[in-house]
Amino acid sequence: MYEAPGQGVFDPFSIPLGGIAGMSSLFSQPQGGLNDRHCVDYQVSLWEVVFALSETADIVNPKLSHHHLKVAYLSYRLGEMLGLSPTQKENLLLAGFLHDIGAFSLEERLSALDFDFLNPHYHAFVGYTLFEKFPPLSSVASIIRFHHFPWNHGAGEQYRDFAVPLESHILYLADRVSILFNVHNEPLQEIQERVSFLKQFVPQLFSPDIFEALLELVTKEYVWFDLASPLLREIVSEITSLHGIPLNTEEFLLFASVLTHLIDFRSPFTATHSTGIAEVTRNVGAIIGLSEEEQQILFATGLLHDLGKIAIPNTILDKPGPLSPQEMNIVKRHPYYTYQALSQMRGCHFLAQWASLHHEHLNGSGYPFKKKGEEIPFEARLLAASDVFSALAEDRPYRGPMSNQGIKNTLEQMVASRDLDGDIVGIFLANLSTLCDVLKEAQRKTREEYAHFRNRVTTFSL
Ligand SMILES: [Fe+2]
Ligand SMILES: [Fe+2]
Ligand SMILES: [Fe+2]
Repeated sequence: MYEAPGQGVFDPFSIPLGGIAGMSSLFSQPQGGLNDRHCVDYQVSLWEVVFALSETADIVNPKLSHHHLKVAYLSYRLGEMLGLSPTQKENLLLAGFLHDIGAFSLEERLSALDFDFLNPHYHAFVGYTLFEKFPPLSSVASIIRFHHFPWNHGAGEQYRDFAVPLESHILYLADRVSILFNVHNEPLQEIQERVSFLKQFVPQLFSPDIFEALLELVTKEYVWFDLASPLLREIVSEITSLHGIPLNTEEFLLFASVLTHLIDFRSPFTATHSTGIAEVTRNVGAIIGLSEEEQQILFATGLLHDLGKIAIPNTILDKPGPLSPQEMNIVKRHPYYTYQALSQMRGCHFLAQWASLHHEHLNGSGYPFKKKGEEIPFEARLLAASDVFSALAEDRPYRGPMSNQGIKNTLEQMVASRDLDGDIVGIFLANLSTLCDVLKEAQRKTREEYAHFRNRVTTFSL
């Protein structure tokens, strides 16, 4: 039986708050582990998780640079001009941050930046489908659903039985302004020209009232200086009160599940990957006698370990065959991005560390942080073993699942070469058929969810 070194019980949801972590802190942190106790005030805010997700999604291509951030800011300012309530403005901010998250492929994300692009509603519906079941964002999901819906001389206020939210029309105009606005040009001249161009689309695409608010906004120079400013994220951070909305443990785990769908539902080959790892990791936690709460944090870490993959093009992740060295270099970025995203959730610093070290090897040959031996915490070692175990036991684009004997041989080889921790792999080997069943059951459930999700989004039409 593996015993985590040291004394005491780590309370995953009791981590001290600190400043926003930079990459350097990954190297300066003391060893984190289930044995370390840190005190009081676990706190992850809705703002932190949404912001981290949104910024990570925009890393995938420089052309997307801060697209979500810019649309969030402009939507908020338009809402302000229109006299919307504080809740409506905050919802606009959140919708701006998440509006294109349903565009899974890079091609789709880039085409969303074209002024006239075909079938714009699909990614909006996917985004809606992802977030509608997460209560803190259910009204934001409805705004996202219609964010390319034309005003159509007023008929756009309604779609079948749905009242199209006013905020969707605001978001639509903010999005179009944002994609046309070139931050490298002189901002005041730039916005004058862009607004003159957009005017021809009133009231076909844009509501006259919302466009009037935009004209009013054009007179406020600071708005356009803000939009072009490299400090826009700090500016947005100051205007919002969303920092004050904490997520409780249940909400955080639910949000982590939503993120898992975002990471894995891009492809049938990855659809069950993170939930499988999360369940296997949680079960190993149960086998070694960890508390329910400790198992929960291991589960969340498993769900979020590949979050950085949302910044990696699908064409590489789904490639049916070995990756080229150049493609592998790109794949190596994903745990780095996982750390960047999760470390912005200040109350989750240890979770960020564990999740992002899942490709490190004890012998130092892993990536991307080149940690070795004792520098790799227990949880990251466990996650690494779960990741390898699940990868061997699951279908891949280029091969079927491996036999139990094949899994055993491969894991043993990886212990011999000091890629994986021998004590942890020992737990896997001693419980191989149980963990295979756990993995299969988790995959079966997630496959059902995936089928339901695909069915909803593929039968969608607008
Ligand atoms: Fe969009
Ligand atoms: Fe957009
Ligand atoms: Fe990974």
